[in-house]
Amino acid sequence: MSAPVLEKVADAGETVVEARDLRRYYDISGGLFSQAGIVRALDGVSFRLQTGRTLAVVGESGCGKSTLARLVTMIEKPTSGTLLIDGEPVTASTAELRRKIQIVFQNPYGSLNPRQKIGAILEEPLKINTRDTASVRKDKAIAMMERVGLRSEHYERYPHMFSGGQRQRIAIARALMLNPKILVLDEPVSALDVSIQAQVLNILMDLQEELGLAYLFISHDLSVVRHLADEIMVMYLGKPVEFGPSEVVFNSPRHPYTAALLSATPVADPGREKKRIALTGELPSPLNPPAGCSFNPRCWKAQEKCIREEPPLMPDGPQSHACFFPVERDGNE
Ligand SMILES: Nc1ncnc2c1ncn2[C@@H]1O[C@H](COP(=O)(O)OP(=O)(O)OP(=O)(O)O)[C@@H](O)[C@H]1O
Ligand SMILES: [Mg+2]
Repeated sequence: MSAPVLEKVADAGETVVEARDLRRYYDISGGLFSQAGIVRALDGVSFRLQTGRTLAVVGESGCGKSTLARLVTMIEKPTSGTLLIDGEPVTASTAELRRKIQIVFQNPYGSLNPRQKIGAILEEPLKINTRDTASVRKDKAIAMMERVGLRSEHYERYPHMFSGGQRQRIAIARALMLNPKILVLDEPVSALDVSIQAQVLNILMDLQEELGLAYLFISHDLSVVRHLADEIMVMYLGKPVEFGPSEVVFNSPRHPYTAALLSATPVADPGREKKRIALTGELPSPLNPPAGCSFNPRCWKAQEKCIREEPPLMPDGPQSHACFFPVERDGNE
């Protein structure tokens, strides 16, 4: 008997993740060459994510994207703030909630056990969490392999026999074995060749449409998220600096940091002129963030107020931003 492995998880529009002011601080004791102190890796992030929708989280290396991924998937606990998965606050007993939210990591080489065959890798979550018989498990594994574009004869193969793109398909298949509602995708295509990236992104988009999955899609590359994000959250040093519907953020970014990131991304529409804004200066350390707006040392619009006061994230039209002197909507400065 073949078991239905691919079920639509929910109707679109249901809130499945809610983050309220999530924070994660790391206490660093310091060493011979390093400073002691508190790293504010994630410093106040709130959002809601619905079934069938994609929230993209973008920002430079070290801005806290993976820290957010670890909190949302319950790998780590927040220092403060509240996380609700499928309407339930995450507290001590998380086994049931963990099944609903799965993660796919950037490195498809490190995340698969080299000694397990693909079949065993896919069936392991079923073995641990369900009472499925061996033959049901095998049917489900093969159905899932076919769904992500792998052939059933791959069932007996080991991870080293696959390309990077195929391994990422295996990681996606494994994440889906327990019918989760939410996938956290932490740079899922960043390690792949550009030609392979589109294939994996297409599979993700098809799966989302078919299954109603919610995606928290993390990327340092805005061009990757352009076609699949419904909403975009731009982070800088652990904080969201701009948040809004994808098209709005792409077409009229308000925060200078977003504008700078976008100006470094290739344009889809070559007819539209774009001024290149160079991001100058180093990314400051989250151990010792600048006073006021943490972007001020790199910002061409910064004024005295930006050094004295920290701008809060405030709604402004269709998006929110944390800037006292935002970029004009028509792109003028
Ligand atoms: N366990 C930890 N202990 C101390 N500091 C940490 C720890 N984990 C992360 N950090 C620090 O928190 C900040 C955010 O790290 P994080 O890995 O979330 O960034 P990221 O946006 O995922 O970066 P990347 O694009 O490089 O993956 C960094 O400054 C990092 O050094
Ligand atoms: Mg990361």
